[in-house]
Amino acid sequence: MTFRHATIEKNVILLMVLTLITVSIGGLVQIIPLFAVESTIERVEGVRPYSPLELAGRNIYIREGCYVCHSQQVRSFRDEAERYGHYSLAAESMYDHPFQWGSKRTGPDLARVGGKYSNEWHVAHLVDPRGVVPESIMPPYGFLLNRTLRAGDIADHLRTNRAVGVPYTDEMVAAAALDLRMQADPEADTTALLQRYPKAVVGDFDGDPRRLTEMDALVAYLQMLGTLVKFSDYTLKDLQQ
Ligand code: HEC
Repeated sequence: MTFRHATIEKNVILLMVLTLITVSIGGLVQIIPLFAVESTIERVEGVRPYSPLELAGRNIYIREGCYVCHSQQVRSFRDEAERYGHYSLAAESMYDHPFQWGSKRTGPDLARVGGKYSNEWHVAHLVDPRGVVPESIMPPYGFLLNRTLRAGDIADHLRTNRAVGVPYTDEMVAAAALDLRMQADPEADTTALLQRYPKAVVGDFDGDPRRLTEMDALVAYLQMLGTLVKFSDYTLKDLQQ
């Protein structure tokens, strides 16, 4: 055995190949179970797939690069929890493909911004950030008000998300185009929509109920961020432990 080991130690290439194989086996043993084990992401009550309008808004959020300045991840530090609310749970982004944790905060974290402001505030802020927050350096996004939401392919977006594991049902896919319009229509009967997507914020978002704009979708998305899980059961005391 010692003799054989000497052969390995004297042959650099052989040593490298064997090291690589050994390390790979170790890595695979650690990583593969994580994909299979259900408990990797703890299930949390309330987390559901995005409604079609929220998903369309999320696509605009990504298209406009909002993630370049905004994170969506409250870290488990006391100052963060006091400012933004309960720290983020893995389950909260389990249906995000790709996730929007971000890596830089030029603006504040948005993981819990849903419900913090009115729809009107969001529209005014996106149209003219400095009109609302004078010291803001956020760019204006008023053009979203003039862009009709192109959503002919929304069912395909749901299907694509389903292909990577988001549990959209056939019923959700079939109703996607209708659900998308209904969520932003203040006069629509949204009972079925709310059964499919509990807690979805419904009504007009951009101030003009006659038109469905990209602003509608983006604000619908912002208004649901961080609202799905009921955190009132947790207090800051839990965080200090
Ligand atoms: C260049 C960096 C930058 C980009 C890009 C940017 N923001 Fe901001 N954002 C900021 C800054 C700075 C603030 C804090 C000042 C303010 O409220 O305007 C802010 C604030 C906000 C707020 C208020 C958050 C709070 O809790 O008060 C929201 C909502 C928001 N941004 C949404 C967006 C969206 C949606 C986009 C993409 C369409 C976006 N931002 C793009 C820098 C940016």
